[in-house]
This record gives sequence, C-alpha cells and structure tokens, in this order.
Amino acid sequence: MAALIRDRTTAGRTTVLGLATGGTPIPLYQELIRLHREEGLSFANVVTFNLDEYLGLPKDHPESYWSFMHHNLFNHLDLPPQNIHLPEGMVAESEIPAHCAAYEAAIRNAGGIDFQILGIGRTGHIGFNEPGSPKESRTRRIHLDPVTRQDAAPAFGGLENVPTHAITMGCGTILEARKIALMAWGSKKADIVREAISGPITDQVSASFLQEHPDATFYLDKEAASALG
Ligand code: GLP
Repeated sequence: MAALIRDRTTAGRTTVLGLATGGTPIPLYQELIRLHREEGLSFANVVTFNLDEYLGLPKDHPESYWSFMHHNLFNHLDLPPQNIHLPEGMVAESEIPAHCAAYEAAIRNAGGIDFQILGIGRTGHIGFNEPGSPKESRTRRIHLDPVTRQDAAPAFGGLENVPTHAITMGCGTILEARKIALMAWGSKKADIVREAISGPITDQVSASFLQEHPDATFYLDKEAASALG
C-alpha cells in the first residue's frame, strides 16, 4: 500500500483507498501511522472511501465508523479532511437512495478504488453484505444479520443498543476495486475463511465472490488459516 501511494504520488496521481473497520485492520492502520511519522509517507494525495456505516448513529457516537476511523487512523495522518468519505449514518430514510447513488458517483469520479482493504464477518460478509447480497449489489441500506449484531453487542453495551441497519458498499462496488486485501486473524474466523476460499461461490458468503477477482489476496494468521485443507 505504501509503495502504491509513493509511486502514484511521484507520478502526480492520487491513490484511492477503500477502508474497513473492525479490530482486524487496526495493526495495518498502526503501521500506516508509523510509516507517516517515521518514514515520511504522505497521505496528502490519498482519497479514502469506507465500506460502511451504521444507520442511526451520529458521527460523534463512540461506535460510529466515522469515530472509529478518525480515532484509529485519520487523526494521525496528513490526509485532507475533504478526501475522506464515509456513508452518513444520520441520513433521512427518504434520502437513503440518493445518498447511496451519490456515494457510488463519488467513487467513480475519484477514478475508482485502487486498493480495497477488507475484514470478514462471521456471516462471511465483506462490508456489511450479509447473506443474500447479490454479486452485482451496489451501495445501499442493509438489514444486519443477527450474528453480526450479536458480535457487535459487547461494544454497544448490549444487543438492544446495536443498530438494526447500516449503509454498505455493495459486493459489486467492492469487486470493482483494482486490488483487494482481505485480512483475518484468529480461530473464530477459521470456518468462514475456509468457506470463503474453498467453498462454493455463493451470495450466502459474500467473501466467496473474491474467488473470481483478478487481484484479491487473503492475509491470514495460522489460526484463521487452520481449517484450510
Ligand atoms: C463489521 C464490519 C466489517 C468487518 C467485521 C469484522 O461487521 N462492518 O467490515 O470486517 O465487522 O470485524 P472484526 O475485524 O472486528 O472481526
């Protein structure tokens, strides 16, 4: 990622990054901050698009992805605030389709995503593309799977506080990224990683669509890889 940013900056071009939340990318974000501080990696020519945001959470809610990204990455870089894009959690229901269409247009106008970072949920979701999300799906409102809400419950202090819906980039949006890196750590991810990599390509496991992407890499630790044959 650093090499891509440096090469494109040298060539006078921007780099468009697709970014993810969750515990998984935190070590990556810490390394990007270190590269910025200690090795002068500049994000002045970087544009970012996050995968998703909870619906109904204001930006300053501690569990909003806007808060997460600023706390864990953006506040520590020279990334221009106008280059940062996340779906808006407080968008009025009637404005959601237009908001999602504008998000897609902003990605297109930026030239498309050069490098997309992904985690994987226990439902096999990338972004918040829960089981049943078509391969061609675009940025839209999604109903969160009970497993996903259960996994988020501790951070929200109880299941009843976890939003029921989110806005997420679609599978089709994600698959248009030119390069994709999915990361997974720990034994809790082992079964779904196996399904994503060696199971059937199905909308029941949206990460399985990555099998058909020309430049997608899974980065796994031993535990997350432990169910692979
Ligand atoms: C949420 C996010 C996903 C993320 C997943 C896994 O559902 N929307 O983008 O991949 O959590 O989270 P973690 O990395 O904490 O396991």
